[in-house]
Amino acid sequence: MVANAVGLLLSILLIFPKVGLIFGEWTYGRWLPLHLNWQLYGWTALPLVAWVFFLLPQSRNSLAKASCLGIRAWSAVLALGGISWLTGHTSGKIFLDWTGFLRVLFPAVILYLWGVLALAWYRGEKRNWFVVPGLLVLLAVPFGLYFASSPEVYPHVDQSTGGPTGASLLNSTLSVVFLLLILPLALRHKPPGKSLDRLVWGFFAVNFFLGLYSETLPHSHHHPGQITCLASLLLWLGLLPYYYSKQEWKTPHPLWQKAMFVWLGVLILNGFITFLPGILDRLKFSNALVAHSHLAMAGFTTSLLIFVLQQILPQKIALRMNNRRAFWSWHLATAGYIVLMIFAGIFESTDPSFLTYPGVLRDTLYGLRSLSGLALFLVSIHWWKALQS
Ligand code: HEM
Ligand code: HEM
Repeated sequence: MVANAVGLLLSILLIFPKVGLIFGEWTYGRWLPLHLNWQLYGWTALPLVAWVFFLLPQSRNSLAKASCLGIRAWSAVLALGGISWLTGHTSGKIFLDWTGFLRVLFPAVILYLWGVLALAWYRGEKRNWFVVPGLLVLLAVPFGLYFASSPEVYPHVDQSTGGPTGASLLNSTLSVVFLLLILPLALRHKPPGKSLDRLVWGFFAVNFFLGLYSETLPHSHHHPGQITCLASLLLWLGLLPYYYSKQEWKTPHPLWQKAMFVWLGVLILNGFITFLPGILDRLKFSNALVAHSHLAMAGFTTSLLIFVLQQILPQKIALRMNNRRAFWSWHLATAGYIVLMIFAGIFESTDPSFLTYPGVLRDTLYGLRSLSGLALFLVSIHWWKALQS
């Protein structure tokens, strides 16, 4: 909710830059990390933390106080982060803006939460040894975050664009596919049938090796190998919804599951087309990528997370997220936001000065974007209130 409010402010500043004078030194560039990091660590990360707690019941029973303390500390560090970014302290790396003592404090909070989870596993009635590899992977997170926040560390980039390579886009999307595949397993659903399981995991293994292979190819989005390997993601468009349709889900009308797959389909198609030579070169740094980011995070990731929450929360609370009006308002406003920014991106790619000077078309697109943003902000207030009662 707060991250959305900052997004709304940013969108207004882009139409009326003079509003920024109210905030003095807290300029647009200082507000932006608050929107990005609060969306990522304040919204998209926390339902996944809830999911891990769900898998280790002791973390919610005898260790509930210790767990709550960790979550409160998490939010407190995000608030401190807000002050730090507004006062101009940042590593300059998108989503890894942690500098100074916060670069240690945030990983320390994550490490503390990991300790609570490890204790919950140890104290469990039946110690499930399958959880151990998962715990070991999670242990790497705080150290990885500290390491990656260094301004001296950078991943491979496609030197013709300065952006991620096809291989890194493929591998990061495969980690999301992996999450989607283990979700029914981790919720201990009855397997839908051995042959379907074998097909899905067999295809995942092939795709995983394709991801490793594509890392060895030249890092250019003009290379046919990079394009072909990335195209392998398109097969998941049919396979994942089919796999999910064969599972037994807890909420009777998996509204959010449908939304998640619609957005995932549009996301993979949009991401793949954006990657193609001739297109990425034009859309680079334009609002078309802002559209992609909101498609990925406000559309797909938000739907995935609400779906996950509905699987782990008590039914009565889970159903509160199914209010049709709020559901459709969120998705229509997100779709509106995306379409508006794709148009803005196309206009920018044909005329780079399109955004530099105020104009009726530019201001209309930005104005309507702010209205979509207002709708998203209001829906988030509605959800917050619905979950309080
Ligand atoms: C949950 C999944 C995803 C998330 C959260 C995500 C997020 C992002 C973000 C934040 C950016 C940076 C935008 C900017 O620089 O303004 C980006 C860029 C991009 N993404 Fe995604 N994305 C996802 C999935 C995908 C998929 C599936 C594809 C392709 C099949 C893809 C292709 C691209 C491309 C081509 C770029 C531009 C790279 C460049 O700057 O050169 N993304 N994505
Ligand atoms: C109230 C609704 C929202 C509004 C008004 C809004 C507005 C904005 C604005 C104005 C930007 C900066 C674009 C630029 O610098 O040109 C931005 C960037 C971004 N926002 Fe939002 N946003 C909203 C909701 C969200 C949500 C819900 C998410 C994720 C869950 C999100 C994730 C992002 C990301 C990842 C970027 C970086 C885009 C890029 O660099 O390509 N936003 N947003």
